[in-house]
Amino acid sequence: MPQHPAEPFRIKMVEPIRLVSPEERQKAMKKAGYNLFALPAEDVFIDLLTDSGTGAMSQYQWAAMMAGDESYAGARSYFRLSEVMQKIFGFEYFVPTHQGRAAETILTDLLVKPGMYIPSNMHFDTTEGNIRARGGRPTNLVCDEAFNPTIRTPFKGNMDLEKLRAFILEKGPENIPFGSITITNNAGGGQPVSLSNIRAVSEIYHEFGIPFFIDSCRFAENAYFIKQREDGYANKSTLEIANEIFSLADGAWMSAKKDAIVNIGGFLAMRDADLFQKVSNELILREGFVTYGGLAGRDLDALAVGLMEGLDESYLAYRLGQTAYLADRLLEAGIPIIEPAGGHAVYVDAGRMLPHIPHAEFPGQALDAALYLEGGIRGVEIGSVMFGYQDPDSGEMVYPQLELVRLAIPRRVYTQSHLDYVADTLITLKEKSQELKGYRITYAPPLLRHFTARFEPL
Ligand code: F0G
Repeated sequence: MPQHPAEPFRIKMVEPIRLVSPEERQKAMKKAGYNLFALPAEDVFIDLLTDSGTGAMSQYQWAAMMAGDESYAGARSYFRLSEVMQKIFGFEYFVPTHQGRAAETILTDLLVKPGMYIPSNMHFDTTEGNIRARGGRPTNLVCDEAFNPTIRTPFKGNMDLEKLRAFILEKGPENIPFGSITITNNAGGGQPVSLSNIRAVSEIYHEFGIPFFIDSCRFAENAYFIKQREDGYANKSTLEIANEIFSLADGAWMSAKKDAIVNIGGFLAMRDADLFQKVSNELILREGFVTYGGLAGRDLDALAVGLMEGLDESYLAYRLGQTAYLADRLLEAGIPIIEPAGGHAVYVDAGRMLPHIPHAEFPGQALDAALYLEGGIRGVEIGSVMFGYQDPDSGEMVYPQLELVRLAIPRRVYTQSHLDYVADTLITLKEKSQELKGYRITYAPPLLRHFTARFEPL
């Protein structure tokens, strides 16, 4: 039996959950157009849709919220957050934002012109959507291992450095307003990026004068993977590793709803004073004054405490251990997943589990729907529904290489028995996988279609 780490906390407030009947689940799915985003959360038993904003705050975060300063400008809460930002990230300037995509919207609006390219290892959906919305072209240059779900290399989130250099030479640095990297690589299995890769990426971008921004939602998990797996880092603290990562960049944005374990919040940070001035002007138009972004003072305090808690090594050992536990239970039962386990989620390989369903009939959607109907579990499709698109040049449908269902684990929320229930449900589904059928889209918006698309079972 795989080992589950003991939780480094005990529970003093509980939120009841219930499993509704199979008939009610059928009814709920039909009403939702078979899109799990459209389900009332009350009808979900174990909600692994996302690890974003769904974590349990600690007593220290709740206590800090009581001390929030709600002044419009220059609140104490802002200065407390600034101090922590400096300690971890060390950028000259930052603005709070209400979540990660608000930072992305501002950055892309200021820097991306139609036809420009933004390379990354892999962009996540909101980043892609924001770049495309400005007429830009998000480009993924992750290493080839990322597409091989069974190779167990330690840093499958790494950028392919050869491809990056060739890409910059081909498109011209003048057509690349900034370059990026996502740590950990959420769209590619929650896999980490090594420090040596981040350093090399930084050198390449800088050789061509391209500013380097890190999408840092899960930087603490990435730092702990570096500590565990990269030569020379075993004796460094996760804070020291984070310092080193961000010293290599010109800026970063973060959805703090992940590794800062808050329910809402984010930031955009940078070194360039001119850019900061422009960002501040946009922030004031969209989010709020520069010392609060779209947040309340108390949110800034929860964030300041959460950023440091997210780097705590006993928490990270438990956190990554819990994800590895679920992954090991599934592997033991012969369920295909992306190996090794990612930081925040286990990614079930629906393409391999349901080989009889083609890309155009959405194997990930089929598995995701079946998980809910079978056990009231909600995951998220990361496959052709989320990333399939029509190529603007050829007009043809482009499908991603992997058809995945992500089971994202909220931080400090579910226990070992919840994860055992998830594993047992998937094992039941594996036994009847031949019976599962694909889906057809009956409605989809032009961008970010997975949020609001509707489906029909085939
Ligand atoms: N970048 C990455 C890598 C993300 O995973 C997310 C969000 C964002 C940016 C955008 O942040 O939601 O605060 O606006 N990911 C969530 C998820 C939604 O479920 O993985 P946001």
